[in-house]
Amino acid sequence: MTEYLQVQSIHKDFSGLKVLTGVDFTVREKQRHAIIGPNGAGKTTLFNIISGRFRASSGAILFKGQDISAKPAYVRNRQGLSRSFQITNVFQELTVFDNIRSGVRSRNGLRYHFFRKPDNHRRIKERTEAIAEEVGLQEAMHIPVSALSYGQQRALEIAITLSTEPELILLDEPTAGMTREETTQAIRMIDRVTAGRTLVIIEHDMDVVFSLADTISVLHYGKILVSDTPDRIRHDQRVKDAYLGEE
Ligand SMILES: Nc1ncnc2c1ncn2[C@@H]1O[C@H](COP(=O)(O)OP(=O)(O)OP(=O)(O)O)[C@@H](O)[C@H]1O
Ligand SMILES: [Mg+2]
Repeated sequence: MTEYLQVQSIHKDFSGLKVLTGVDFTVREKQRHAIIGPNGAGKTTLFNIISGRFRASSGAILFKGQDISAKPAYVRNRQGLSRSFQITNVFQELTVFDNIRSGVRSRNGLRYHFFRKPDNHRRIKERTEAIAEEVGLQEAMHIPVSALSYGQQRALEIAITLSTEPELILLDEPTAGMTREETTQAIRMIDRVTAGRTLVIIEHDMDVVFSLADTISVLHYGKILVSDTPDRIRHDQRVKDAYLGEE
């Protein structure tokens, strides 16, 4: 299987605070890879480094065999790597449809000539509706974001991520703060929308992790303690001692 995303010896410190001290793991194409680890382990920091928001202190990120460590976030995004947006960044007073559409539009290149092609408006509208449907927001398409339930807001974050047509999706705790019922729905939706894509997901909810992931990496004290199948992780004594045992 192809080594799709390679995280090589990533170190990160914040003015002396060593958060990541040599993170290594590989994500294979079309796999669902979960990252687990205690609060403050550096999981979000690692995502920020993969997506290009932060630069690592040292180490490299390879995407489809190419070293992207020095590339800015928007270039990585254009190459097919997308991390979920925080809903707080979207326009609360605009509708779900408008918010998703602006992602679809920017993906398709917002240019003057673009609007002169009569087909494009229709294509954008259709793609926007399809994405809203994929994440289960078809009924809520024409209401403002501010009127969405919490679960729906999180679904919109995923919709906006999908609007850039990513190959590799990074989701940071997509079910955080959800009720059991919302979580169950969210898992089903994530399962559906990431089919045929590659997913890296940070998650605390072990039900979510064990029902979605093909591979799990445990981040502990700045390093990956182990990467393995859910079944092996579940029975790994080191993981129990370091993390699962605490739960
Ligand atoms: N921009 C920053 N500047 C300084 N310190 C930071 C910054 N971002 C994160 N940190 C520190 O890095 C450490 C790891 O934080 P991070 O958010 O990556 O952990 P996490 O594993 O995502 O935790 P959680 O499970 O709570 O989300 C923490 O001690 C945090 O305070
Ligand atoms: Mg975090």
